[in-house]
Amino acid sequence: MIPPDHVSFVDRTLQQLGVPPLPEGEGREGVLGWLHSVARSHVDIAPAHRPVLIANALGSPPVDVIEQAHARGVKVAALAGAAKHALSHVANGVDIIIARGYEAGGHTGEIASMVLTPEIVDAVGPDVPVLGAGGIGTGRQVAASPALGAQGVWTGSVWLTSEEYQQLNSNRGMTDAFLRATSADTVRTRIYTGKPARLLKTKWTRAWESEDAPTPLPMPLQNLLVSDAHSRMSAHGDPDVVSMPVGQIVGSMNEVRPVATVMADPVAGFEQAAARAAGIAADPDAP
Ligand SMILES: Cc1cc2nc3c(=O)[nH]c(=O)nc-3n(C[C@H](O)[C@H](O)[C@H](O)COP(=O)(O)O)c2cc1C
Repeated sequence: MIPPDHVSFVDRTLQQLGVPPLPEGEGREGVLGWLHSVARSHVDIAPAHRPVLIANALGSPPVDVIEQAHARGVKVAALAGAAKHALSHVANGVDIIIARGYEAGGHTGEIASMVLTPEIVDAVGPDVPVLGAGGIGTGRQVAASPALGAQGVWTGSVWLTSEEYQQLNSNRGMTDAFLRATSADTVRTRIYTGKPARLLKTKWTRAWESEDAPTPLPMPLQNLLVSDAHSRMSAHGDPDVVSMPVGQIVGSMNEVRPVATVMADPVAGFEQAAARAAGIAADPDAP
């Protein structure tokens, strides 16, 4: 089902970008949860790890999965990029809505957090908890979420430059690319999975914007097409040739920090931002 022209474009592009084949026997990334069967196998394995929450990115989880989770006392969250998606999640039995704005890393819609979060909060009403997501990394951004009506926040990108993530991720080129990127260095594109997702802008994403680039395939075929390419780029480690989801907050990810600091800084920043807003509310004329 994958056209040969797509395969030859990927091969040609990797060659042009100087990315060698994987060494013999080196592991491949494989297909992530974009297939129903793979996603369900994640759900089968999850209970052994005693989760308190299962979150689904693309649509509501199947109703039987929601029921299974509830039977075990596990809450279910789902990401929403538009108010109508949030309403359909609630109708399917989802407990927590994650309002994920345009700025977010990974799959994302077209509406920015500033507009999306209050729209979703108003649509689902006061009984459904909403978390703000997309572009959150500092205390001021955390403080914006309750101001927009959310009960908390959900973050992704900001963890990619944690010290602990470096132990899982051997691709130092990718970390260097994050550290030097500005908030303008991301692009929302279908080339990772077939659905729009925000990635770091690199020579790889630019190649897909060239005139001879094919149109990305629908999910799950696009990820099948590029998953070997992802493994090859990771093994190569060139910061100019990276294929990785990250949000616009990458412009503030300028150093590798321990997880404890990635948590503590926004907490302290939130307290300052909340106090500042409270001060303005109490005395609008104060300097
Ligand atoms: C590298 C990366 C991988 C992600 N993978 C998933 C995923 O598998 N499932 C999911 O629900 N969301 C995934 N997300 C999206 C996050 O759940 C979240 O919506 C997003 O990161 C929030 O925006 P932020 O990146 O600005 O913090 C991913 C995000 C990143 C950066």
